[in-house]
Amino acid sequence: MSVRAFRWESERLLLLDQRRLPQQEVWLNIQSYEQAAEAIRDMAVRGAPAIGIVAAYGMALAARAGVARNAAAATLAASRPTAVNLFWALERMERLPEWTFEAALDEARRIEEEDLEMNLRLARYGAELVPEGARVLTICNTGSLATAGHGTALGIVRTAFELGKLRHVYSCETRPRLQGLRLTAWELMKDGIPFSSIADGAAAWLMAQGMVDFVVAGADRIAANGDTANKIGTYALALAARHHDLPFVVAAPSSTVDPATPSGEAIPIEERSSLELTEIEGVALAPAGCPAYNPAFDVTPGELLSAIVTEQGVFRPPFRFER
Ligand code: MRU
Repeated sequence: MSVRAFRWESERLLLLDQRRLPQQEVWLNIQSYEQAAEAIRDMAVRGAPAIGIVAAYGMALAARAGVARNAAAATLAASRPTAVNLFWALERMERLPEWTFEAALDEARRIEEEDLEMNLRLARYGAELVPEGARVLTICNTGSLATAGHGTALGIVRTAFELGKLRHVYSCETRPRLQGLRLTAWELMKDGIPFSSIADGAAAWLMAQGMVDFVVAGADRIAANGDTANKIGTYALALAARHHDLPFVVAAPSSTVDPATPSGEAIPIEERSSLELTEIEGVALAPAGCPAYNPAFDVTPGELLSAIVTEQGVFRPPFRFER
């Protein structure tokens, strides 16, 4: 595994601060559930599976401090609304028969281990869909930094590369937080995978030029009918892929599938500060007071997806996920 987003060590959670990457590798000391919630809210850690795992460790820290389980879960649940993995992990922690530090830590560790296993398995299923010599386009960061390791959409890229099937990756910069340019580029460079970062607005043009064979994205929540919430810009990629008759695949562990949400309309979409758009690293790009609207996710209708890949296999439309 090339990079890790967090590790439990010496009785606390060490968290690689993704806001500082790639310029600096700073590890945060997370010693309370409040600090875990803040790290998720401020995106020191991000990516649906990683958020869920860090919340689980946050619950273990709450158990150690003797905090009531529902109070800690409520604080962590309020950190970010869209990725269902957060609520899925908190529910697992809330269902534990005993509320002790040992039991909570064991469960958090299990959630982390299972995530890595699910990613490795789904990556093998997904890599089978990648054409030989493919040029793959992806968005955001769905790699080791967003998960317990290997990644989801980027896990498929990694496995396809290991199998010798991958010619090139086009990685969308992913405005406004630039997870593609800062994080995916960092991971791909560490693994020696050939890639080019592109401006988000270039994606459809690359497709039109015949430079893309396969599009793969992660997910923050997959509704029962396959409608998929993911990083803002994913929907536009799916529309462009459909127009150019290209496969568009969503990859996620089953912890991202939310059968209780019937369709995309019911998925809460996070709106983040307009400053994420108008400033970079505190430096203003826009005229002072410039109004901006910043939805962090969009929903791609299931009918635009060629397949959804989980650790359970490859699902084809029409999708129907059940509890
Ligand atoms: O706002 P972020 O960086 O948490 O958004 C991340 C994404 O949209 C990812 O594509 C998704 O969480 C899947 S990560 C394996």
